[in-house]
Amino acid sequence: MEHKEHFHGSDLEKIEAAYGIKKEEIISFSANVNPLGLSYKVKDGLAKHIDCLTSYPDREYTRLRKTIATYVNSSFENICVGNGSSELIALFAKLCNPQSALIFGPTYSEYEHEIMLYGGKSSYFELKESDNFALDESALFDTLDAGDYDLLIICNPNNPTSALIGRESIDRIVSHCGKKNTLVMIDETYMEFVNDCENSTAIPLTDKYQNLVVLRGVSKFFASPGLRLGYAVTSNRSLSLGLKGIQVPWSVNSLAEVAGLLMFGDVKFIKDTKAYIEAERNRMYARLLHIPSLKVYKPTANFILCKILTSSVTAQDLFDEAIKEKLMIRDCASFTFLDESFFRFCFMKSDDDDKLMDVIERLFT
Ligand SMILES: Cc1ncc(COP(=O)(O)O)c(C=O)c1O
Repeated sequence: MEHKEHFHGSDLEKIEAAYGIKKEEIISFSANVNPLGLSYKVKDGLAKHIDCLTSYPDREYTRLRKTIATYVNSSFENICVGNGSSELIALFAKLCNPQSALIFGPTYSEYEHEIMLYGGKSSYFELKESDNFALDESALFDTLDAGDYDLLIICNPNNPTSALIGRESIDRIVSHCGKKNTLVMIDETYMEFVNDCENSTAIPLTDKYQNLVVLRGVSKFFASPGLRLGYAVTSNRSLSLGLKGIQVPWSVNSLAEVAGLLMFGDVKFIKDTKAYIEAERNRMYARLLHIPSLKVYKPTANFILCKILTSSVTAQDLFDEAIKEKLMIRDCASFTFLDESFFRFCFMKSDDDDKLMDVIERLFT
């Protein structure tokens, strides 16, 4: 088998073509989607509301925004909705058009891509492997003070490192940036998987700081990437009005609106997911720690990053071994600051996780 491409979690059709495996049979350890599947309430309720497709969604999305506000403990005026967090990332990139954005890296590549598309410029603040990708706050402040940044982007917890920056630290960063007129955008796509999500999320800080916007989406935690629903939380009215001003009307469709009304109140699904991911995260982390030829970074989200310590095996070799068993991991060579020795996978159903662990153990022990 030969391939030079690095597949994204949604590239199942490409995999199908490259490896001759039916996409329905592939278990994607690469998409970071909750293995419990759709919220019980959404599964039950969406079909009953299928006729919502015959009318436009509420242009202001008032009920949906109120539901999200309750879920994140904010006020509904602070909530903007979008067609996945991807649309919101793109809209903020367009709106801010930063001449100098600073992005914590390694991270999700879309921030840089969207900024570049709209003619802005960005550079990376490196989270060092030697620090296990933890933030060196004083080095950050030195960088911020030495430059003139109009936007700072943080993915928290970070994709692909699964490392978390605590709220106290985020508070100091946003405060520091406020004095320099720097807007801070925090992508919390994976925050709900964190054990102490309520005390880690930056959402409560959105009332304190005008230079803060927090993004989230339902693709990962609520296992609905096909729905395309994301939201932004900010108390900065000129920012939210600016966003609405450049957004296509009704960009969130009626089905996503209905699903949103159902899923955020599904307390059982939320509780089950948190308990399941915590147990699986602990179990897989403990198993990986036993493999001497891997360095494993302590995960806080629903996925884990590993570094291969032997030079004879690459992440692509692992990808090829795993895909033979229809298990698709993420080779991280395409991430800035990472190389072919890094791979990432998310926690799926226990049986499937065991199958992947067997492949990893076979290759590395
Ligand atoms: C960090 C991060 N942010 C945003 C997204 C895109 O999410 P959405 O489906 O809400 O557009 C992803 C998808 O992989 C992601 O990893």
